Amino acid sequence: MPRAHIELDRQAVIAPVRRRTFGSFVEHLGRCVYTGLYEPEHPSANDDGFRMDVVELVRELGSTTVRYPGGNFVSGYRWEDSVGPRDKRPVRRDLAWHSLESNQVGLDEFAKWLTLTGSELMLAVNVATRGILPALDLLEYANHPSGTTLSDMRVANGTPEPHNVRMWCLGNEMDGPWQTGFMTADDYGKIAARTAAAMKTADKDLELVVCGSSGTAMRTFGDWERVVLEHTYDYVDYIACHAYYQEHDGDLGSFLASALDMDYFIDSVVATADHVGYKKRSNKKINISFDEWNVWYLKEHQESQQVGEEWSHAPRQLEDVYSVADAVVVGNLLMTLLKHSDRVTSASLAQLVNVIAPIMTEPGGPAWRQTTFYPFSITSRLASGEVIRPVIEAPAYSTARHGEASVIDAVATADTDRAAVFLVNRDLNEAAQVTIDVRGLGSSRVTEAVTLADPDVYAKNTLAEQNRVTPTANKSAALADGVLTVELPPVSWTAIALR
Ligand code: AHR
Repeated sequence: MPRAHIELDRQAVIAPVRRRTFGSFVEHLGRCVYTGLYEPEHPSANDDGFRMDVVELVRELGSTTVRYPGGNFVSGYRWEDSVGPRDKRPVRRDLAWHSLESNQVGLDEFAKWLTLTGSELMLAVNVATRGILPALDLLEYANHPSGTTLSDMRVANGTPEPHNVRMWCLGNEMDGPWQTGFMTADDYGKIAARTAAAMKTADKDLELVVCGSSGTAMRTFGDWERVVLEHTYDYVDYIACHAYYQEHDGDLGSFLASALDMDYFIDSVVATADHVGYKKRSNKKINISFDEWNVWYLKEHQESQQVGEEWSHAPRQLEDVYSVADAVVVGNLLMTLLKHSDRVTSASLAQLVNVIAPIMTEPGGPAWRQTTFYPFSITSRLASGEVIRPVIEAPAYSTARHGEASVIDAVATADTDRAAVFLVNRDLNEAAQVTIDVRGLGSSRVTEAVTLADPDVYAKNTLAEQNRVTPTANKSAALADGVLTVELPPVSWTAIALR
């Protein structure tokens, strides 16, 4: 049985736990909005047509900020289409996902939905195919209290209070050839700088996110960040990172170590941002908004994607069904984001409902939790106070994609009256015995210990079997003389709460 030991020093603080780390993402894509969040005919729908069964699950998920309305969708987005009387809103073609957008849910409705879930709105503007003025108009419509044409239009549309959106994305994945209106780093850097400067003239306290690379595999990765930040450094606050992982060709060992790529991604972008900052003799630091991350079976999606003649409303797209192994990776990626809380101060699990999502729905039918729901909701609930950097002694294994990986990964958080430890065991076959020195945290009692694992690492929750995979109590967790011991099953994710 592999053995590991973890030291937790209360002084080894990385940064505060940022609530925005637990953000998510709603795009007008497939059935995320229509029959996901919004389905007026559904038995659980409220007067505004929102499914309250989904609202309940989103609350339980504990997601905080929600990025909206895209994604690739934003590069064809005309925000004006999405507000005002519903019967006057145009139906448009969405080129990004080859489908029709009815605009029956728009900015004001979505903001209303967010009040049901208690979430913060993070809005994206269309930099790709529009320009500075539409971005400023959207800002005025959304945030100006009243007394101007656009703010009064919002009031007349039934939203008297401004939305007061703080975080704004300057487009989406502008480095990707799939993006409508994609650009070179130089072209994008220039337009993003001008858009950001204008938006900050309207409100200097906005928090602006400039597009980074769509993944470490992009040929322009690294140079993109440098060039874009050379143009935008003085005007923006965050650079975005996006990363999706999947198991390739049956190589589960590499897949379970995906967090190493995320770790490298963050370190590289921080280094590049700081390099640009030093060159500019700037005291300002650019942080990371990791505003798309998840497991996504993208290769299979690309292989099966056929663009036909048909344009339909809310087709079933990107409805990945997640396994136990996928949930272990998602839990581990979230641990990695926490470990970088000094510079990753906002993140968005992509996405929230039906589309590569922790929550699934059937039209007219139930809503249920995917396997990936659990590590996210439990971490969001238990992580508080400050993130503590663990010192981990554990065996390592070789991976084809990420080099040497530790069999055990972990992170801890500590608050005044409670602490939590999150762990993964990446071993494919064996349980691991872990000892954790928690004397430094002053903890004396385990209040909760749960593990997500299954003899079948590919077990999934489906419409037919919605609770096939759920976390179970880890009865092996015990604390004596300041040492916590726990057994971690193979391919598992575990959370332990301490008092
Ligand atoms: O989340 C799905 C898509 O992935 C988003 O629209 C895009 O930004 C990314 O490529």
